[in-house]
Amino acid sequence: MKYTWRSPSNIALVKYWGKHGIQLPNNSSISFTLSNAYSETSVAFEPKADDGKLAIEFLFEGSKNEAFQKRIEKFLSSIISHFPFLTSVKLHIESTNSFPHSTGIASSASAMSALALGLCSIEKELTGALANNDDFMRKASIISRLGSGSACRSVYPHLAIWGENPGVANSSNDYAIPYTEAASIFTTFHDSILIVSSDEKKVSSTAGHELMHSNIFADTRYKQANNNTVEIIKALQSGDLEKFGLIAEEEALTLHALMMTSNPSYILLQPESLQLIALIRSFRESTKLPVYFTIDAGPNIHLLYPHSIFNEVQDLIKNELSKCCENGKVIEDQVGIGATLMNA
Ligand code: DP6
Repeated sequence: MKYTWRSPSNIALVKYWGKHGIQLPNNSSISFTLSNAYSETSVAFEPKADDGKLAIEFLFEGSKNEAFQKRIEKFLSSIISHFPFLTSVKLHIESTNSFPHSTGIASSASAMSALALGLCSIEKELTGALANNDDFMRKASIISRLGSGSACRSVYPHLAIWGENPGVANSSNDYAIPYTEAASIFTTFHDSILIVSSDEKKVSSTAGHELMHSNIFADTRYKQANNNTVEIIKALQSGDLEKFGLIAEEEALTLHALMMTSNPSYILLQPESLQLIALIRSFRESTKLPVYFTIDAGPNIHLLYPHSIFNEVQDLIKNELSKCCENGKVIEDQVGIGATLMNA
């Protein structure tokens, strides 16, 4: 039996930056689930004698990949207590991404969540557990988190919240929960990713999280993020685009300010990133159209805007913004429906 899950990437509006314990966040975060950037991972299994060891065959884009294989083996050994069946099966895992490896889009959220979902499907088949869909998705979110923190938000449609926050009912550090109260305008929102550089990041997110332990602004930051989570939820619910966009931009710039104030300090933004921010803000000022940006842990700028102004924003990209992009490159994405089982 083989299970193939397609799971998307996500873009955080309120950022997870700083963690403790086994991949537990120091503040709550909320993200849009994307649509076009996804991983598709199939997991097939056959029984073997339980010798306490893992047996994994892994192909990425149809070929063996030593680095990814090692990462997966390390991850699977760390979750044997969650899936005791892992040592009594031989696993054949095959994964592909809808986007090329070095486009500046992080693949860990989509890859880890697609794999976690496949493992949950096997557990369901072998043990009969996880028959309830909410239980299934919750476990998939927990396992995704153990692979890469932000991956836990990818499994749900539209929007997901991760991290305990007294202002958010049922929120948890262990898993993400779907956020279903957003005004409908946000369920078709666009994310046009302006690629400033597709180079591999100089400082990984994992190293960036680590530096938060000694960042003198850390405590203030965690309070700000928890407060921004509650405030952006209000904006999402009421359809207040301006409030939504200003919080998203504050979060993006705070994330990069935290990198600049880490010790050692580092800067991932490029001159073109700043040019794009200035162009976006001046377009917004002169047209009064609701176009905002967010930024991941890299130099690329994500343009966030409602579907109703798609044509105007495409003109802006073509006429002004694409000049600041690497080879004029822009990747179009949109809020999506979350993870899907492809061979049900
Ligand atoms: C800037 O989830 O990639 O994208 O838990 O170490 O795998 P690990 O880190 P990761 O960090 C993501 C950071 C971020 C913000 C976010 O997605 O919330």
